[in-house]
Amino acid sequence: MTTDAPSRPFRIDVHPRAGAATELVADVRRGFAERPRNLPPKYFYDARGSDLYEEITRLPEYYQARTELSILRTVASGLVERHAPAELIEIGSGSSRKTEALLDAIALERRPARYVPFDVCPEAILGAAQRLAAQYPWLSIHGVAGDFVRHLRHLPRRRGRRAVAFLGGTIGNLEPVERAALVGELARLLQPGDVLIVGTDLQGDAERIRRAYDDAAGVTAEFNLNLLRVLNRGLDADFDPTGFEHVARYDDEYGRVEMWLRATRQHSVTLGALAQTLELRSGEEIRTEISCKFTRRSVVEMYESAGLRMAEWHTDPEGRFALSVATK
Ligand code: SAH
Ligand code: TRP
Repeated sequence: MTTDAPSRPFRIDVHPRAGAATELVADVRRGFAERPRNLPPKYFYDARGSDLYEEITRLPEYYQARTELSILRTVASGLVERHAPAELIEIGSGSSRKTEALLDAIALERRPARYVPFDVCPEAILGAAQRLAAQYPWLSIHGVAGDFVRHLRHLPRRRGRRAVAFLGGTIGNLEPVERAALVGELARLLQPGDVLIVGTDLQGDAERIRRAYDDAAGVTAEFNLNLLRVLNRGLDADFDPTGFEHVARYDDEYGRVEMWLRATRQHSVTLGALAQTLELRSGEEIRTEISCKFTRRSVVEMYESAGLRMAEWHTDPEGRFALSVATK
């Protein structure tokens, strides 16, 4: 490929963003009424949150990103040869960096293809689309900014064999009930001959896994605290991020990491848009994220309850992360 190849125009459809005031108000009202208090994780990803996540993927502790990329590089060409997708739909695509392993393999097939990045963060899709349009001038790109729980029906009409990818272990950020619902929705996007490619972090040494969410440089802490800035902006609130600390725990019973924000002093927070005040004692915690860890068995069950069949299972040599492929 030459670097001066003209890049094609691309299209991005933006659906009312997750931060849209009414939804944020309802989500925060619900989450703060529950015990433990919790917040839906999609609000992490404003433009700054997406940049911070990208920084997380380069941390030494965050083995997941480089491990998944190395599996993808190993299996991409075989996958593309066997399944010959005409379009790649990616859910929670973020920076689309790892996707390049799949696009490189599709490039070798020398057929036209379409890439559909779907993410809650429009800035992330725009950045990815600009880069990929220049890098793969043969590729048509149609991004969709929306919530994968609510807006999947706005995906463009199919253009031939589909590969749907859901990488980064993001499926683990959903509670089991939401996860089952989403995999059911993803199954509905598929026809026989299509594939669903999912990255899942695997159960293993609890402290190694925990540290992936509590790095020495403090980037994950910054990412977690950024959620309070998103709330301040979206809710006309006055959280003081300097009065909170980042906490990551591995819960053995559920086989998952949990991220919390813990008040390091007493807070009285005004939530303007909720016409409400939040009182927090020193030491009180808000849960901001779960990240479930899987086994081969739990992944097979996840597919089977959605009427899918697991066709391929790939891991790194240490068995830390898995890339699986399911079909109808
Ligand atoms: N796939 C990328 C990014 C993973 S981080 C990678 O592997 O590096 C999770 C991504 O999912 C973020 O880009 C975030 O914006 C997106 N995301 C989280 N919740 C979402 C939701 N409800 N709807 C759509 N995208 C969501
Ligand atoms: N999908 C990522 C994961 O669970 C999201 C993530 C990585 C994350 N590090 C985080 C979410 C820190 C909240 C806090 O691995």
